[in-house]
Amino acid sequence: MPETFTSFMARALHDPQRGYYARRVQTIGAKGDFSTSATLSPQLGQSIAKWLQAESRSMPHVRHIIEVGAGNGMLMETVQKTLNWWQRRRFHWHIVDTSEGLRNQQKQRLGKRATWHTDLGSALKFIGGEAFIYHNELLDAFPVILLQWQDHEWQEVYVDLGGNQPKELLMPHALNMTERDSFSIFQQPPLTANQRAELHLSVRDWLQSWAPCWTAGSMLTVDYGDVFPALYHRRPRGTLRAYLMHQRMEGAEIYQNIGRQDITADINFTDYRSWAAVLGWQETMFSTQAEFCKLSKVSDHQTTNLLDSDGAGGAFKVVSHRKQKPA
Ligand SMILES: C[S@@+](CC[C@H](N)C(=O)[O-])C[C@H]1O[C@@H](n2cnc3c(N)ncnc32)[C@H](O)[C@@H]1O
Repeated sequence: MPETFTSFMARALHDPQRGYYARRVQTIGAKGDFSTSATLSPQLGQSIAKWLQAESRSMPHVRHIIEVGAGNGMLMETVQKTLNWWQRRRFHWHIVDTSEGLRNQQKQRLGKRATWHTDLGSALKFIGGEAFIYHNELLDAFPVILLQWQDHEWQEVYVDLGGNQPKELLMPHALNMTERDSFSIFQQPPLTANQRAELHLSVRDWLQSWAPCWTAGSMLTVDYGDVFPALYHRRPRGTLRAYLMHQRMEGAEIYQNIGRQDITADINFTDYRSWAAVLGWQETMFSTQAEFCKLSKVSDHQTTNLLDSDGAGGAFKVVSHRKQKPA
């Protein structure tokens, strides 16, 4: 029986019994299936610490810091180490993570230096609504709607895993007219015939789910991706891929090793920024990771990969939003 690609990806990554993040992922970094900017270099954490210092000067009443999707806990450890004792103690530190295995690793690394939660809405309610929030490489793990331009319209990719080989099928997509309005790809024709593209409806729904609980603070989003249409320039098959033991998989390989490999897609920052604007959040910065990290002026030569705008430093983007208390 065919299912939408979205439902396949949600099961493969987040099924409570067999999903990659729920059960399989043991660690992130050299010994895991993939590394992140935070496990490769302290530079991102040092830059986030600088961002927190600047934001807390503008909003000194905010006393809680939440990292969402903290991986092996290294990023928060670096952020805490970069701040001095007094700055560190000013804040209460929280982590929101859906993976039990990774939460255990974070607890081993950070001990009593954080409090753990399983969803952002309840974490915000627990602390009274005011927080500085940051996340790195979180959104790319959210399930996508996979579309293909076919016969002069966007069609949705379904997958049938019932036979010997996984089979993809194209069917009309289920997005209604109002939903379509919030996605940039519906606003101009595709770049190439049979172009594939991913929609992060799950990210939009996630933002909307906890936004009413956030009363004041700032949020820093770091992830790979680009604005539209640059995101799909020279990428006719879209940005979807899987990782298993640092090997990149594409096409039919995405349907192999279900629940044992990470599946990910780039973030469309045109969509993301417009969803944040609709929620009334003020955008205070949008830059490449390279530009963001240069601001922290760290000169460790081992960390230059994040400053390379032709490599990871350019592929990753950073966006900062503020939510002000009503006057
Ligand atoms: C790719 S890892 C990034 C880890 C870390 N931020 C870093 O930079 O090394 C994604 C993290 O997000 C967590 N995660 C995935 N979906 C989540 C969700 N909906 N809410 C909270 N955490 C989630 C995973 O368990 C994992 O810790």
